[in-house]
Amino acid sequence: MEKNSRRTRRTQRRGDIQADLTGFAKPRNHDLAVQLVNRVGNPLQRLHDVAINRYVADAFNLAFNDAAEVGYHALHAVQRYCICAVGQGMAELHRFVAMERRNFIRNTVAAAGAIGLQGNLMARPKWKRKSLVNKLHIGIIGSGMRGQAHIDLLLRRHDCEVTAIADPDPVMLKQTQAIFERHGKTMPAVYDKGNHDYIRLLTMAKPDAVIISTPWEWHTQMAVAAMKEGIYTGLEVSGAVTLDECWALVNAYKSTRTPLYFLENVCFRRDVMAVLTMVREGLFGELIHLECGYQHDLRGVKFNDGVTAYGPGVEFGERGFSEAKWRTWHSQYRNGDLYPTHGIGPVAQWINFDRGNRMERLVSVASKSRGLHNYIVNHPKGGQDHPNAEVDFRLGDVVTTSITCTHGETIVMYHDTNLPRPYSLGFRVQGTRGLWMDVNNSLYVEGVSPAHQWEDAGPWLKKYDHPLWARHEKDAEGAGHGGMDWFLIDSFVRCGIDGLEIPFDVYDAATWKAITPLSEASIASGNMPQEFPDFKK
Ligand SMILES: NC(=O)c1ccc[n+]([C@@H]2O[C@H](COP(=O)([O-])OP(=O)(O)OC[C@H]3O[C@@H](n4cnc5c(N)ncnc54)[C@H](O)[C@@H]3O)[C@@H](O)[C@H]2O)c1
Repeated sequence: MEKNSRRTRRTQRRGDIQADLTGFAKPRNHDLAVQLVNRVGNPLQRLHDVAINRYVADAFNLAFNDAAEVGYHALHAVQRYCICAVGQGMAELHRFVAMERRNFIRNTVAAAGAIGLQGNLMARPKWKRKSLVNKLHIGIIGSGMRGQAHIDLLLRRHDCEVTAIADPDPVMLKQTQAIFERHGKTMPAVYDKGNHDYIRLLTMAKPDAVIISTPWEWHTQMAVAAMKEGIYTGLEVSGAVTLDECWALVNAYKSTRTPLYFLENVCFRRDVMAVLTMVREGLFGELIHLECGYQHDLRGVKFNDGVTAYGPGVEFGERGFSEAKWRTWHSQYRNGDLYPTHGIGPVAQWINFDRGNRMERLVSVASKSRGLHNYIVNHPKGGQDHPNAEVDFRLGDVVTTSITCTHGETIVMYHDTNLPRPYSLGFRVQGTRGLWMDVNNSLYVEGVSPAHQWEDAGPWLKKYDHPLWARHEKDAEGAGHGGMDWFLIDSFVRCGIDGLEIPFDVYDAATWKAITPLSEASIASGNMPQEFPDFKK
């Protein structure tokens, strides 16, 4: 009986994979296939990277999972790239990928033998909580701007130690070293031998926990590898590139039970937590509609001078620095809500996702794209003749997504990162008795506020201030994003030491990240509704 149901589940999973892969070749998804290859500025180099990344993940999967199923998956992944390549009239890419794959597998097997990795892989490690530690040894994968901010907070604490860092960029490592010196500490073990050296961090340094703060396209494979090594995993925020990635996270968790902490810091924002108390106490009545988003003028982040993160300029890709090096690609080749979790994380707390309520489907629309091109041509270091003035950015300047939930609430999300505007996540929490909006810090409660008039939300936020903030206000002083990053890191470390329940776990990560590929699919298909997978089924 058990055997049968397991087989049925496996067949279903295979069916899902098959549907996904065959779907890729259909005209409906042709756009996605083209996107994949288009994501290539320099097609050979980029496809090389995609292929290498993919096969690292596949090599792990092969070792950990049902070989037949993953073999099937890997075969079709190759076909998928070939379809793209052929579709673009680039048959040589096909040969290139095949050659890289052979080389990569040969090299990986050799390397795995050399460092004793294979034994670990075959052992299917399971999460085993060590007897409660009073000091968490933490490895950092990606010590760029965000990783450095995490390190700075971690080095202030007495209950953890940063014992290893993996990052191939010497400039970022130098900046990181300066942080250690500022704290009077010596640099820990460094793994800087290329993009895959993080695997040595996992298998040789063997930290209790890792924080992954790398470019988005690396997140899944790194998190899966860490979970499979039984290392408590903190994963920085991003939308997923594909739905497969979301499943990979969930499946890695199911097979290892290693906890994943999705590092969504906005859930700890002071007003967000005060509003959570208001919601729990029924101030707004039954919740009906919510709004949120990522409305942040990122033009000075997507482009810089290639020397410092905010140095004025219009360079990106290989000529950019920090996020301009990788994030701008996503605006060039993708069109969807690329960064949904700062908005949906708090919303998920307010409307009790996962306690019977879930997001069921979404529809996305995208405006035209003007902001990034205009920024380049109007910038003193850019102009009509700058090579980047030729670049065609696909990301609509404002992407709007509507979501419906099981309990009947609606959510509207905005992704708005290419135009001049002050920062705002645009929260609105509206129920049968009243609402709060963060844009003008305004609030209205029927029967309490003057009729039909906005009140300043300030006094309300003070009254409902979360006790955690009142208790730790001083500790959080000077920490990033108005102090909320202190709460995030505190929570991450304490969950690791005390074995507390993870507040934003792998299922939250998968569901929130899924908004990105679903919104892209909706836009690519002429705004068709897209169903959310139920990652708990
Ligand atoms: N929660 C927040 O408020 C917040 C703020 C900023 C960034 N982020 C997220 O943090 C992540 C990192 O962003 P960032 O601003 O630090 O970018 P960044 O470009 O400054 O840093 C990324 C770092 O990763 C390194 N890296 C790239 N490939 C690697 C690999 N294969 N192995 C090891 N290291 C590798 C790079 O060399 C770089 O140092 C992103 O997911 C971003 O969305 C979150």
